[in-house]
Amino acid sequence: MSEVTGSWLNDLPKVELHLHLEGSLEPELMFKLAQRNNIKLPFDSVEQIQEAYIFNNLQDFLDIYYQGANVLQHEQDFYDLTWAYLEKCHSQNVIHVEPFFDPQTHTDRGIEFSVVIKGITRALNDAQKQLDISSQLIMCFLRHLSEDAAFDTLTQAVPFIDKIKAVGLDSSEQGHPPEKFSRVYKKARELGLLTVAHAGEEGPADYIWTVINDLKVSRIDHGVRAVDDSALMLYLKKNSIPLTVCPLSNTRLKVFDNMSEHNILVMLEQGICVTVNSDDPAYFGGYMTENFIALADSLSLTKNQAIQLVLNSIEASFVDDIRKAEMRNLLESRIN
Ligand code: ADE
Ligand code: ZN
Repeated sequence: MSEVTGSWLNDLPKVELHLHLEGSLEPELMFKLAQRNNIKLPFDSVEQIQEAYIFNNLQDFLDIYYQGANVLQHEQDFYDLTWAYLEKCHSQNVIHVEPFFDPQTHTDRGIEFSVVIKGITRALNDAQKQLDISSQLIMCFLRHLSEDAAFDTLTQAVPFIDKIKAVGLDSSEQGHPPEKFSRVYKKARELGLLTVAHAGEEGPADYIWTVINDLKVSRIDHGVRAVDDSALMLYLKKNSIPLTVCPLSNTRLKVFDNMSEHNILVMLEQGICVTVNSDDPAYFGGYMTENFIALADSLSLTKNQAIQLVLNSIEASFVDDIRKAEMRNLLESRIN
């Protein structure tokens, strides 16, 4: 039993730093967009889709995730996808988000880069005005594709560079070491972008060292395999390098067999800057609140730990000190 309740966790102001917009595509919206765009889905009902969401590893999930994204065709589709996620955030008191998008998933199907980014940023701007949710956008490269393809994507992003805060690296980790992207990351940094990368989700702790040393990341996405390397753990702690951890994702993709085996709170107690995030909530059974509740149910999360996890997210976010202070004040005012 945990000392925190679901409603306390829902009311807690929260910050999300690891969320793939394409992974927030709920089956209901998938059907609606398929109908609107005249696309035949290989499913007949929402229930059938949900039954298909049983995964043994990351690749099992990615195969279904890329297929689902096919229904996204027009600027309004990307707006609707992003807006639905932001409304969910609002209902769970998420006050700041730094979502990822995967342009190559769409440009490889003939959708213009501008269509994707205009739809997403229009929703992010509306959320700032109407829901008081601030945001920074992160553009990911698909690591199963070539570095040339990533360079091409970066070139397409240049006219919209003011709308992008950082680049990231996602998709199949095993067999796709991060150094393949060293040069394109260097170019991104020269363009003024920050960098993050998925590492140590299914791949080894070595990949975490590489994204730190070669890709010069400000944060590591997942990073749970860091515990295999004590020198790395020391380095992460000493240099306050944040990990964007995704508990429900990790159990759904069998990174951990059970939530009770998850290492996030062990790392927290060791002084590592771990944060809680939902990754692909439409596929993994929950958004921010559900991820916190999972930690309460299986790991007896305490109030102080929940608050520290949010403070870590605020510190790890890509906003200026004024917004960070504002978010800390809001958190303070809600927990007393
Ligand atoms: N793309 C969407 N979700 C992902 C994950 N958990 N790991 C790697 N790539 C992803
Ligand atoms: Zn991810």
